[in-house]
Amino acid sequence: MNNEAIMRQAIALALKAQFKTAPNPLVGAILTDRQGKILSQGYHRKSGLPHAEVEALGNYKSVPEDSVLFVTLEPCAHFGKTPPCADLILEKKVKKVIIGQRDPNPKVNGKGIQRLLDAGIEVLSGVCQKECEAINPVYIKNVTRNLPYVSIKSAISLDGKIATASGESKWITGPQARERGHLLRSQHQSIAVGKNTLEADDPRLDNRAEPKADQPVRVVFASSGDISEQSHYFKSALSPRILFGGPEISKDKINQLESNGIDIIQSETPMPGIEWALRKLHEKGISSLLVEGGSRLVASFLKEKMADRLYLFMAPKIIGSQKALGWTGELGFTSLEEAFAFRFENFEQIGDDLLITAVI
Ligand SMILES: NC(=O)c1ccc[n+]([C@@H]2O[C@H](COP(=O)([O-])OP(=O)(O)OC[C@H]3O[C@@H](n4cnc5c(N)ncnc54)[C@H](OP(=O)(O)O)[C@@H]3O)[C@@H](O)[C@H]2O)c1
Repeated sequence: MNNEAIMRQAIALALKAQFKTAPNPLVGAILTDRQGKILSQGYHRKSGLPHAEVEALGNYKSVPEDSVLFVTLEPCAHFGKTPPCADLILEKKVKKVIIGQRDPNPKVNGKGIQRLLDAGIEVLSGVCQKECEAINPVYIKNVTRNLPYVSIKSAISLDGKIATASGESKWITGPQARERGHLLRSQHQSIAVGKNTLEADDPRLDNRAEPKADQPVRVVFASSGDISEQSHYFKSALSPRILFGGPEISKDKINQLESNGIDIIQSETPMPGIEWALRKLHEKGISSLLVEGGSRLVASFLKEKMADRLYLFMAPKIIGSQKALGWTGELGFTSLEEAFAFRFENFEQIGDDLLITAVI
């Protein structure tokens, strides 16, 4: 097997833990002999559990002479929850390391490679680099921009509407599409809706696809903090709740929400800004956010260029009213040149509906 073929196997290993490693990246590692025969392998399964290199090298006091370590991401050189993997590689007497992607985390970014080179280890970096990068969009965004990765999800009609003119939106898409929506919730650490959606739909904002998994943090944008005491969001303590509000929320309202376990974060601006809110989520260790509407909130994410991925579940129905809300509200563009360009990533038929995935 050549280097690329082995690295692709390491990528496949890393992907076994997809959506389970946050805030850590997905990483796979394979130890081979010089002919490319696999001797051992491993992947990072979950934050706090061993890194991929530890899984691949753990059983050796020192690795066989002439063996080669393939790892999808540069080995770390700092103490996190576990000791530096670069030190482990030295300790196990690995002589050659082949790396997919340099770690963009400023705590590592070249330091792991340098540690290996300084110890006289042969290092080859950048093998299948693009493919290695492609498995870690969340981690890369987190460490390079200090922001959570943002996906927007909407259930829309063929004419791009999310509700009828009278506000009816349950259900535009069919049961299979809705089930997939729950899977998306299980793949994100938090979910957000705007105040009007909370009022209109009273969503539970829980993940029913994998109920045993951690439930996402529930985020609501409501400048006045004025939300119904009868809403699921107010009543259910299933997972942490954050409310982004403006500066004018009354003391009584704050007491009422906080005594009910809701964490209120107030902006200085009358309406909480999106990038500001995302920074707060990042500070709380939240690595990804699924925005479930409605139209105005989505527009705010788009206007501030804070959306990384779109999941549009499209039903073969036409709602057909100019008064009905589209999945994004007013963005104020007047020319095609200004229009946001996404890149289609995938189309999939789910029951009677289509799931269109696009990335920025
Ligand atoms: N089909 C679907 O997938 C789907 C999904 C979700 C919702 N919906 C439908 O969408 C409709 C609601 O959408 P909507 O556009 O009226 O309202 P929305 O986006 O749910 O909520 C907008 C409200 O959130 C508050 N807010 C606070 N910070 C904000 C910010 N930075 N940007 C934007 N809003 C912010 C504002 O109210 P305050 O100023 O009072 O705080 C604003 O009016 C409902 O009919 C619902 O059923 C459909």
